[in-house]
Amino acid sequence: MLIPRPVSISDSAGSFALTPATAIHAPDAPEVAALLRELLTPVTGLPLPDAAEHGPHTIALHVDPGATDLGAEGYRLDVARTGVTAVATGPAGLRWAVQAFRQLLPVAAFARGPADAAWTVTPVSVVDTPRYPWRGLLLDVGRWHKPVAWLRTVVDLLAMHRMNVLHLHLTEDQGWRFEVRKYPRLTEVGAFRRASPAGHETDNASDDTPHGGFYTQDELRDLVAYAARRGVTIVPEIDLPGHMQAAIAAYPRLGNDPENPPEVWTRFGVSTRVLNVADETVAFVKDVLDELMDVFPSPWIHLGGDEVPLDEWQASPEAARRIAAEGLDGAGDLLGWWIRQVAAHVTAAGRRPVLWDELVGQSAPADAIVMAWRGHDRIADGLRDGHDVIATPHEHLYLNYPASDAPGEPLSIRDGYPDPHGPTTLDSVYAYRAEPAGLPQELASRVVGVQANMWCEYAPTAERAEYDLLPRLAAVAEVAWGATTDPAAFRTRLATHVRRFDAAGLTYRPLD
Ligand code: ACM
Repeated sequence: MLIPRPVSISDSAGSFALTPATAIHAPDAPEVAALLRELLTPVTGLPLPDAAEHGPHTIALHVDPGATDLGAEGYRLDVARTGVTAVATGPAGLRWAVQAFRQLLPVAAFARGPADAAWTVTPVSVVDTPRYPWRGLLLDVGRWHKPVAWLRTVVDLLAMHRMNVLHLHLTEDQGWRFEVRKYPRLTEVGAFRRASPAGHETDNASDDTPHGGFYTQDELRDLVAYAARRGVTIVPEIDLPGHMQAAIAAYPRLGNDPENPPEVWTRFGVSTRVLNVADETVAFVKDVLDELMDVFPSPWIHLGGDEVPLDEWQASPEAARRIAAEGLDGAGDLLGWWIRQVAAHVTAAGRRPVLWDELVGQSAPADAIVMAWRGHDRIADGLRDGHDVIATPHEHLYLNYPASDAPGEPLSIRDGYPDPHGPTTLDSVYAYRAEPAGLPQELASRVVGVQANMWCEYAPTAERAEYDLLPRLAAVAEVAWGATTDPAAFRTRLATHVRRFDAAGLTYRPLD
């Protein structure tokens, strides 16, 4: 009943029991032994101490660099009546073995505090490797700030699904959430709005509810460490040069009309207020990225690039001078120009830029990874443009879209716009395959990941976001891990899986 389903699993008779005598033997991976303890001791009350020897009643976690068939994240897990053995080429695979083992226990193992259960496991043999190295979730904390404690809950959710990337969308027109010590007004001003959007964005209304909040660098460093212990990388995004209205409200000199600065936006939609093209603004953003890279050790830094209206640049003499000086072909080329400035800065720091698919055909650096969001076809476009691509097509993997077209679904972005694709049902997510058709293998093999996106315009609370995420995130996880079954078999496993959500106190959309 594992989700995602492992590549191979066979069970046998009997049972293995966790008892006060159970100990962990993990001389090559003490950090994974600590994770197993961090996950299980508070729930079971069992001490699970370190064992010097691989004896009876031990859980042995072995690193075997020679087990190359397992790759960077695969694992073998053998539960026998007398003990448990996990093997991987490094800690990454052992962490997934720990998560798989946790799902073999009674669902009470997912409780957030002490629970009562017979902590037994049916003996199994699992051999498992993921299909995609990037199995991600984007969480938008720009539209509505979410408590940092809940971000840890999201990390837990990802880890239990053997997903390894939390893409944190930290900046928006409606709020800047990342503390930047050099530019304190980004959060003093940019993290707070006077009023909030009301109803659907097409109603163009706001109410008198102020909203705000941000994450200190110390909070984020703690979150990064918490996630790293669970094998989850937090990939931060500073979305630019659009979606910058909150930053421009904080520092009007970043915008194209400093005499008429905007306020932190109180509407949803696509703002026309974008960064100007001054050298000082590029330098400002590089300073922000330096602090960002200091807090987030992620090998990947997301630089945004989506939804950049050209209105302000088309009207700006400064933009016209930039276009002439750089030999660009009009304001439409300024997006690529902007991204090249900051991508080079990220690359010089030894990180890889990630960009939304608007950058396809915009001379983005070849090492940049493209996130194809505007449709499944954008995957092939990104590949043909020479990039590694992460599949996050909105019509399949946007979990902020409604899960059915029945009346009674909560308000969503889709309420204001006709939807040619139909609802994003559990079954439609589960049926999604990222492989683009009709491309040569050397291109198709450059699809490096699958990611769901959770935009939060209509998810002001953690509970609403959980309702949108669950259980569809489980389907995403299984698609990204790559050992999918027929949908009926998935639903059978899911019936057990949602009881894990119950045990963890999570909100989810009930199964139909
Ligand atoms: C996006 O959904 N604007 C990337």
